[in-house]
Amino acid sequence: MRVPITRPLFGKEEAQAVAEVLESGWVVQGPRVAEFERLFGEYAKVQHALATTSCTTALHLALRVLSVQPGDEVVVPAYTFVASPNVVEQMGAHPVFCDIDLATFNTTREAMAGAVSERTKALMPISLFGLQAPVHEITEWAHARGLAVVEDAACAIGAWRGDRHAGTVGDIGCVSFHPRKAITTGEGGMLLTDNGEMAEKALALRNHGAVRTDLERHTTAGGFLLPDYPFAGFNYRMTDLQGAVGVVQMNRLRGILERRRELASLYDEELRGLEWMQTPTYPAESLHGYQSYVCLFAPEPPSMENVEQLHKQRNRLMLDLEQKGIATRQGTQAVHTTTYYRERYGLSPEDFPNSYIADRLSLALPLYPQMTEAEMEYVVGSLKACGEAIL
Ligand SMILES: Cc1ncc(COP(=O)(O)O)c(C=O)c1O
Repeated sequence: MRVPITRPLFGKEEAQAVAEVLESGWVVQGPRVAEFERLFGEYAKVQHALATTSCTTALHLALRVLSVQPGDEVVVPAYTFVASPNVVEQMGAHPVFCDIDLATFNTTREAMAGAVSERTKALMPISLFGLQAPVHEITEWAHARGLAVVEDAACAIGAWRGDRHAGTVGDIGCVSFHPRKAITTGEGGMLLTDNGEMAEKALALRNHGAVRTDLERHTTAGGFLLPDYPFAGFNYRMTDLQGAVGVVQMNRLRGILERRRELASLYDEELRGLEWMQTPTYPAESLHGYQSYVCLFAPEPPSMENVEQLHKQRNRLMLDLEQKGIATRQGTQAVHTTTYYRERYGLSPEDFPNSYIADRLSLALPLYPQMTEAEMEYVVGSLKACGEAIL
């Protein structure tokens, strides 16, 4: 049996929706993207939702909207995908890393506060794997000090705390529609904000800095004239081909999330009592979106002293599972140990030990809505057998 780490859920409806866009002759950003934005904005209960080419470009827009300047600092958790600090670098600003809480893989207000200096312009809390980071506390703390908050909610579709969705608590939040996320448009992202002025600026910057969209220009009289460009912007527009897929995926979203949560609780049940594996834990008031089901391989309490030894065992386990046709992944990366950041800022693993331990010992198990009971049983049985064999 082969069990992938994930599998996007598409049906005939997506193909039909794309075919209709092709037939219409309007394939760049237009009515389908607008509909997708409306549906996602309604779902996440946010006033402005702007589709982009990826979460990375949405984050880049967010930093431009907040006027992050060269030399400014932005606090970023060290355990994340490189896209988060990369956008800060692209602004000529500096990511200043902070550590995470190993129990949730997310950062904390204390960790972010400890990385703030007089050069800090913004904080970028990250809601990893479908669990909302403590963005309320972080935002309250940041706003009291005049700091902006950009939420990297790339992995956080379906991550709620009370009636607030991840990405809607800070000044601006960004989600991803990459195929490893709950719903997908191939590549794609969305910038979320309740701030009208920020939304207006992001709207222009997404479209080269223009005051009018192409669709407005083509559907109003006098559209033969190019608009004015008050900003030097980008082309970060999502196509209507993707927007059409996004609209159909939105109709599937609630069902997909329900199934992901159901599968995650099956894993919880099946893996409860495995002493060498910490399954996902989260605060009671959170609703998890389970973008990934990420465990921590911990046959003994992990520390910087035993992490390399445990890392070898975890990799052995991943290899054995791979040989049985089961795909696993590390959760994400300790970006301060990747070559660019290590060399540019002279960082070493022990600077952010929890991020390093999470990098070396995390283990994401297969999770996708189409997963069958037989696949789940095979993964759980193989995991237990392989784990017992190496310990
Ligand atoms: C935490 C985090 N931030 C940003 C991104 C970038 O998202 P995208 O691939 O849509 O640019 C990812 C992608 O997985 C991510 O995991």
